[in-house]
Amino acid sequence: MIDTDTYAMAEADASAISLGPIGVFDSGYGGLTILRELRKTLPEYDYLYLGDNARAPYGSRSFEVIYRYTLEAVKELFARGCPLVILACNTASAKALRSIQQRDLPGIDPTRRVLGVIRPTVEVLDNVTESGHIGVLGTPGTVASESYVIETGKLFPGMSVAQQACPLWAAIVESSEADGDGADYFVKKNIDALMAKDPEIDTFVLACTHYPLLMDKIRKYAPQGIRILEQGQLVAESLKDYLHRHPEMEIRLAKGGDVEYLTSENPEKFDALASMFTHDGVASKHCALD
Ligand code: DGL
Repeated sequence: MIDTDTYAMAEADASAISLGPIGVFDSGYGGLTILRELRKTLPEYDYLYLGDNARAPYGSRSFEVIYRYTLEAVKELFARGCPLVILACNTASAKALRSIQQRDLPGIDPTRRVLGVIRPTVEVLDNVTESGHIGVLGTPGTVASESYVIETGKLFPGMSVAQQACPLWAAIVESSEADGDGADYFVKKNIDALMAKDPEIDTFVLACTHYPLLMDKIRKYAPQGIRILEQGQLVAESLKDYLHRHPEMEIRLAKGGDVEYLTSENPEKFDALASMFTHDGVASKHCALD
């Protein structure tokens, strides 16, 4: 239940602040799978997408590097007026979110917020699995962080979580090879390895926002009847709930339904692949990150 006085106070404050878009960050194209669902569920807001394609994939990089790159991207989105940034990237959420929230944000601007994608995903697991056996497919960084194992253990201690790193999947997507024959080999190999760890798995978590772009191949090699959990809708519902609970943030968001794209790589290259995915004309701008 939202306190209407809180809304009234937030509205009064709004006259004094400038409005900004919701920042959506990923190492590359993967966050588009989140952005698409955000726009469906929360179409009234403006969005500013930033893909660090020049330095993607992040998945095999060290903690220090992922943290530094992510912080640079968050600062860039803040500098461009975003009051709220979604890390639409599991690797960044696993390796950098907590440090940014606890260590950096108080010094940068304590009124802004950075949110991740792992918690909203874990929260729904008990609605999805029947066997209580979950299979997590993620980047080497996300798997090594054990974030899914830890978060699931906190919320659902009885569940069993097996993980499989898929070191090349994000790179396959970034290099426009998701539909190519080469992708079959790696998708099958990693899914087989995951199932060998726990044959009772009945739910796959696609714990990398790039992986929905490989969905056809994942379905092809997943055992029949496996549920495949994508994060876009979950993150969108979670953000909707968050904004309902935080009118002081909601009131700071621009509501024109616009979306703009930034990439640290070549914009023409970004637009070609992004447009195929969004089924919309994408006209990105270059943004140097370093
Ligand atoms: N899409 C990102 C994730 O969700 C990162 C993939 C990568 O850059 O390796 O983990």
